[in-house]
Amino acid sequence: AQANIGVIGMAVMGSNLARNLASREGNTVAIYNRSADKTRTVVSEFPEAGFVASETIEEFAASLTKPRTAIIMVKAGAGTDAVINQLTTVFEPGDIIVDGGNALFTDTIRREKAVRETGINFVGAGISGGEEGALKGPSIMPGGSAEAWATLGPILKTIAAVAEDEPCVTHVGTDGAGHFVKMIHNGIEYADMQLIAEAYDLIRRGTGKSPAEIADIFTEWNKGELESYLIEITAEVLRQVDAKTGQPLVDVIVDQAGAKGTGAWTVQTALDLGIPVSGIAEAVFARSLSSKPAQRAAASSLPGPTSKWTVDDADAFVEDVRQALYASKIIAYSQGFDEIVAGAEQYDWDIKKGDIAKIWRGGCIIRAQFLNRITEAYDENPGLVALVTAPYFTDAVSQTQDAWRRVVVAAAQAGIPSPAFSSSLSYYDGLRADRLPAALVQGQRDFFGAHTYRRVDAEGTFHTLWSGDRSEIEATDTH
Ligand code: 6PG
Repeated sequence: AQANIGVIGMAVMGSNLARNLASREGNTVAIYNRSADKTRTVVSEFPEAGFVASETIEEFAASLTKPRTAIIMVKAGAGTDAVINQLTTVFEPGDIIVDGGNALFTDTIRREKAVRETGINFVGAGISGGEEGALKGPSIMPGGSAEAWATLGPILKTIAAVAEDEPCVTHVGTDGAGHFVKMIHNGIEYADMQLIAEAYDLIRRGTGKSPAEIADIFTEWNKGELESYLIEITAEVLRQVDAKTGQPLVDVIVDQAGAKGTGAWTVQTALDLGIPVSGIAEAVFARSLSSKPAQRAAASSLPGPTSKWTVDDADAFVEDVRQALYASKIIAYSQGFDEIVAGAEQYDWDIKKGDIAKIWRGGCIIRAQFLNRITEAYDENPGLVALVTAPYFTDAVSQTQDAWRRVVVAAAQAGIPSPAFSSSLSYYDGLRADRLPAALVQGQRDFFGAHTYRRVDAEGTFHTLWSGDRSEIEATDTH
């Protein structure tokens, strides 16, 4: 046995993570791939990594020092189960299997339970940052047992991104907690991307600026409170000119957004938990709508606004959009953290929200300055009921809300879709409302289904005899 850590799966994420591990002091990395050809290619391409390569799973296990630690980097799904099954036959109690793929957290809970019965540790670890992150330093969100973390933590700390001198990895919680938090990261990623896309669309259609000019605006925005990886890469994408046509690349890309499902999981889980992640949901739905060419073609002759919309002051409009983007982004993160809180409660995870914001400051796709403010908010008040109610965010929203409203109004008048901007604003107004029309909904439910309601001025539940004399009775059970 010569290697202290192994990686299984030599596609680009796996080989990059293995190279990252190998480049850090003290690590010797064992590698294995289902087809040995791939392993051989990786070994010859990256001789400097000094990989200990194996062609069989038995050899791979034998090449690892104890407790054996192996990170699985294969496409999430059945492939992961297959590798876990192989590993459990060659590993021993105390060894550690890490799944670094984008697994659904409930799969991770299931796998952790099954693997634990063999005495082997199973850790589902969310890894964010794409190919480059895997190679140079990702943000890592491991779940699993404290015992596994004791061995794994120091190794992961060597490869994680560093933000303000701290490695972007922490033990998120037991079993599926790491993959749960990675799922929320991706949901927020979807919302952030959609909000940026809406901002671009409004500016372009409102001011007639070219993609390259809008790229400059994003570059400018990236110097302020919106500073983030996604804003930075947006500028890069908008500046790109297509070699073939000479057009901005963004104009020759088919406008149908793909999705591998993690955003949808965030929303499905939120529905189960009863958490309104409306900004994230709209972002997922916006991708679905974009990818319905037949419906879009059929609807393309539907009427738009009959009066023309014009932007009088382009600079002022751009600044309004910037503020609307910031406010909506706060809502998206607030909703994402609400879901973390609800998930932690449901699955009994001790998740430190401030630490999650910290490990997202570097390496991951949603890395941003702004995450420091989230950490501060939770450090100050760990029981914060909604992120947007923390003093910093309340101030930020107070200062931006007028602009936010103007942008949503403008979008509606112009007939420019802004599902994430407008749903975030509606959510905000819903949250801060003194009274909601939910009272009427309760009345309706009581009318047709005797579902009962509570009164503002008395304890208990009540029902109106709608089909009788319409008097009110106290109800014993709720429906
Ligand atoms: C990351 C990314 C990564 C990937 C997702 C989302 O954190 O590095 O989130 O996991 O980009 O799979 O991809 P889709 O947009 O295809 O769903």
